[in-house]
Amino acid sequence: MIVLGLETSCDETGVALLGDGKVLCNKIYSQEVHSKFGGVVPEIASREHTERLLVMTKDAFKNIKIMPEDIEGIAVTYGPGLVCSLLIGLNFAKGLSLSLGIPLIGVNHLEAHIYSPFITKDEYTSPFLSLLVSGGHTSIVMVNGFRSYEVLGSTLDDACGESFDKVSKLIGLGYPGGPVIERFAGEGNEDAFDFPVPDPEGLNFSYSGLKTSVLYSYRDMSQEERIYRIADIAASFQKAAIRSLIIKVKRAVKLTNVNRISVSGGVSANKLLRTSLDKLDVDWVAPDSEFTVDNGAMVGFLGYKLLKEGIRSDYNLKANPRLFL
Ligand code: KG4
Ligand code: ZN
Repeated sequence: MIVLGLETSCDETGVALLGDGKVLCNKIYSQEVHSKFGGVVPEIASREHTERLLVMTKDAFKNIKIMPEDIEGIAVTYGPGLVCSLLIGLNFAKGLSLSLGIPLIGVNHLEAHIYSPFITKDEYTSPFLSLLVSGGHTSIVMVNGFRSYEVLGSTLDDACGESFDKVSKLIGLGYPGGPVIERFAGEGNEDAFDFPVPDPEGLNFSYSGLKTSVLYSYRDMSQEERIYRIADIAASFQKAAIRSLIIKVKRAVKLTNVNRISVSGGVSANKLLRTSLDKLDVDWVAPDSEFTVDNGAMVGFLGYKLLKEGIRSDYNLKANPRLFL
């Protein structure tokens, strides 16, 4: 069964084709235009999706030499995200579904992230824990079964990826912050600054205090110091941000007695996070790198699972920018 997966919730346009849940083609267009603004500009994001979506979909069909008539389902993200961006993908999917007479499957973006490691790796039997760390969300979720979730903790303010983005903007490294902070951190001393490791009560997260701490240190530096200590700032910030995630993972394992963890979302690409998880006495799995950032493959993968369960959406499906699990 061939399923088309479409993702337009933020600043990545994602189009993928999957055959029986296996990725045949995964096209991602990351809208670099936002970097000069230091963050995503919603109006520009939706225009970019409009310009790219049809072209990328046609290319995907051409790449694997199939016709639109060969697909049996269209999975599309309907939330959470930027409403105008979501609407571009959702309306495109509805039009295609209607004209081809095939099912439309609305997919929750967060749920798609949770299952993304299993696109290429053996799926954990439930229960398992999911650490979802992206630009918009930071949560620890107990997955009790397919579509049965219990959110154990979430961020009280900024998301983890958002803090990478904000710190990066502050120290002049641009957007998106995660990859560039990681690169600079590789050249720096992670013990150079003693930034606080956020550890709010229980399994909740908080990143605004850490960001403010970086801001204060940076503000007090001379122009010259800002330049020669940039890698040290990146490394010290990254160490504190990742350590906070690790503290929560350890606590969640202790509280639940579940030691299988699926890690997903843009921040799951971070190497320090991955090596730190390796040092814990847990079983963990993360997506292959092409499935860490927002992508159509994870949407198609979950859409295929839903379709197999007989789940589909009707054409009244609305974009829901605040959709949760
Ligand atoms: O999952 P994603 O593509 O979009 C959302 O659903 O939000 O995640 C994007 C976020 C951005 O904040 C980006 O800075 C962060 O993931 N990110 C990283 C890394 N690569 C991307 N953060 C830390 N280290 C990375 N290597
Ligand atoms: Zn995402």
